[in-house]
Amino acid sequence: MIYLGCFLFLCGLTHVTASYPIWWSLAVGHQYSSLGTQPILCGSIPGLVPKQLRFCRNYVEIMPSVAEGVKLGIQECQHQFRGRRWNCTTVNDNLAIFGPVLDKGECVRIVPVVSAATRESAFVHAIASAGVAFAVTRSCAEGSATICGCDTRHKGPPGDGWKWGGCSEDVEFGSMVSREFADARENRPDARSAMNRHNNEAGRTSINDHMHLKCKCHGLSGSCEVKTCWWSQPDFRVIGDYLKDKYDSASEMVVEKHRESRGWVETLRPRYAYFKPPTERDLVYYESSPNFCEPNSDTGSFGTRDRICNLTSHGIDGCDLLCCGRGHNTRTERRKEKCHCIFHWCCYVSCQECVRIYDVHTCK
Ligand SMILES: *[C@@H]1O[C@H](CO)[C@@H](O)[C@H](O)[C@H]1NC(C)=O
Ligand SMILES: *[C@@H]1O[C@H](CO)[C@@H](O)[C@H](O)[C@H]1NC(C)=O
Repeated sequence: MIYLGCFLFLCGLTHVTASYPIWWSLAVGHQYSSLGTQPILCGSIPGLVPKQLRFCRNYVEIMPSVAEGVKLGIQECQHQFRGRRWNCTTVNDNLAIFGPVLDKGECVRIVPVVSAATRESAFVHAIASAGVAFAVTRSCAEGSATICGCDTRHKGPPGDGWKWGGCSEDVEFGSMVSREFADARENRPDARSAMNRHNNEAGRTSINDHMHLKCKCHGLSGSCEVKTCWWSQPDFRVIGDYLKDKYDSASEMVVEKHRESRGWVETLRPRYAYFKPPTERDLVYYESSPNFCEPNSDTGSFGTRDRICNLTSHGIDGCDLLCCGRGHNTRTERRKEKCHCIFHWCCYVSCQECVRIYDVHTCK
C-alpha cells in the first residue's frame, strides 16, 4: 500500500469525563517534501470526523501544510513555556520525532498534555490553529499548491515611493483552512466546544492582526530607485509572544446553560463583572489550573521532580518556584566544548576541545 504522504489529524479533545486527562492529540506523518509525488490516502488516516475526511479529500494538496502548522504551533508552545512548571510536554517529548521517525514512514502521535478547560488548553488551541493558518498561508504564497496562491484583493493604492509587487500572503485562505479543519470537531453545544472555538479563532485572528508590508529595493547597485511591497505574515515567534501575553491575561469564564429549541446549550459568561469582558482576540477558560507541582494524571500534570532549575533566577524557572519549595539536588556535568578557536588566512577555523564543568540543579 502506498502510505499517506504526510499528515496529521487534530483529534481535538477526546470525549472522556472531566476527571480524566484530556489529550489534545494529533499525529504527524512523514515527508512534507514529497508533496504531489505520493498520494495521501485520507481514508487511511485514523480518527478523522466525516467533515475532516471530506476536507482532506477536497484539499489533499495542502494537508502537508496543515501538519506542518500543528508542528510549528507545538514547537512554539514549547519555546514559550520552556523552564515553566507546565512546559507543553508532548507524550513523545522529543522533537526528533519530526525527523528520523518520519523518514521511516510511520505515523507518530504527539500529544501535548493539558487538562480540558484551563488556560494552558486555551493557549495550545490558539497556537496550533494559528500555526495551521500560518503554514498554509506560507506554502500557498510559495506556490506549492494549485488551489491557492497570492492575495490579489487587498492592494489599495500604492504608497509613497513604492508600488505593489511580489506575492502578498493570503491569510484569509489559510485561516479558512484552519477554521474548517481544526474546528471541525468543535460543534457540540457544550462549554468546551464554545471555549475551543473561541480560542482557535483568537489564534487565527492574531495572524491577521500582525500582517505587515514587506518591501524590496530594486535599482542600480541596491539604490532604492524602485521599491515593491507586498503583505507578509510576521515571524511566527511574534505570534507566539503575542499569544503568550494573551495567556497571561486570559479571561476566566463561567458556564451557563440555556434551554433552546434544539435542547440545552452551554455558553460562557465572564466570571468577574468588574473586569473588561474578553474580546474575540482574548483567550478564555473556565477551569483553574493545577499548580503542576506533583504528578497527577487527572489534571495532566507531570510534576516538576528532576526538572532542571536555575539557581540564580527568582522567576518561575528558579529552583525555589520551579521545585515548589521541595529543594533541589546539584550534580556536576563535564561537557566538551570548542575553545581557543583560531582563524587561519584564508579561510578556515581550527579549534581545540576543552572540558568545562557545569553545576546542574534539578528539583527534588
Ligand atoms: C518538560 O517537562 C517534562 C516533564 O516534567 C520533562 O521531562 C522535560 O524535560 C521538560 N522539557 C524541557 C524542555 O524542559
Ligand atoms: C539563570 O537566571 C539568571 C538570572 O535570571 C540568568 O541571567 C541566566 O541566564 C539564567 N541561566 C540559564 C542557564 O538560563
